[in-house]
Amino acid sequence: MTEPPLPRGLRESRAEVVRRLAAAGVASPGADAEQLLAHVLGVSRGSLLTSTLGHQVTLEHQVLSDEQATGLEQLVSRRERREPLQYLLGVAGFRTVQLRVGAGVFVPRPETELLAGWAVEQLSGRPDQVAVDLCTGSGAIAAALAAEAPSAQVYAVELSPRAYEYAVTNLAGTGVDVRLGDIADALTELNGDVDLVVANPPYIPLEAYEEVELEARVHDPAVALWSGTDGLDTIRSVARVAARLLGDGGVVGCEHAEAQGRSAPDVFRAGGWHDVVDHLDLSGRPRFVTARR
Ligand SMILES: C[S@@+](CC[C@H](N)C(=O)[O-])C[C@H]1O[C@@H](n2cnc3c(N)ncnc32)[C@H](O)[C@@H]1O
Repeated sequence: MTEPPLPRGLRESRAEVVRRLAAAGVASPGADAEQLLAHVLGVSRGSLLTSTLGHQVTLEHQVLSDEQATGLEQLVSRRERREPLQYLLGVAGFRTVQLRVGAGVFVPRPETELLAGWAVEQLSGRPDQVAVDLCTGSGAIAAALAAEAPSAQVYAVELSPRAYEYAVTNLAGTGVDVRLGDIADALTELNGDVDLVVANPPYIPLEAYEEVELEARVHDPAVALWSGTDGLDTIRSVARVAARLLGDGGVVGCEHAEAQGRSAPDVFRAGGWHDVVDHLDLSGRPRFVTARR
């Protein structure tokens, strides 16, 4: 059944969108409603909230044009079907960069910004470092490294042709060398010459299927989420590939699931890595492992 057109007046529009998104089970209906309203109005969420649209009008008095109301209706319907907000906006922010995203590519997550920050720290103050982002998806981590550690030579690898297209677009002009293919046999010409390997691979254990939010389960590409029964298949591959790429003393950082706070570090310990350390995210949950070759 089609919903009736949204009422005019931004305050009413916002309230109606919030009600519909909350009913659809969206986790942050208020914030999402404001982002979608701002998007159809062509303004930032900040200026929407401070009511500085156009001529200093208030939320109460501003109305949507017919075209904007139709655009909002289409976006809200898609969000009700739990399409990720970033797919609707077409962009996702990651540290200091903006990335194009849409169907077929994993939306970069805030928790991965910590792993990228760790990687930036490893590169800073050291000129001419070589860094590799395995499983680059939209190119998020590679783009952050290029922006924040500009003297590094950065490479990125992605298996999915669709995601690779996004990475190529997002990394254009950054100097990052992005390759399409399986990490298992990628970049062999760099064997032993790399200083830093970073990866946010697929890692969700199949048994955690029910716990994964609908946005991810239905809309994120399966190849970006799952990796064998225990979720560790690609992490094992990351450990093997990093061992091949890194020179002596080189470091690897790899994101993992909360439940893998012991098992992911054990993959690296079993591979003879040194200084294996697990790191918590801002909520105190195990989030990524680092190790030295
Ligand atoms: C969880 S997503 C992370 C994407 C990106 N690094 C980020 O943090 O937003 C994992 C990515 O790994 C890619 N991938 C999965 N298996 C791969 C493999 N064997 N070789 C290369 N890429 C792979 C998926 O297509 C997906 O884009």
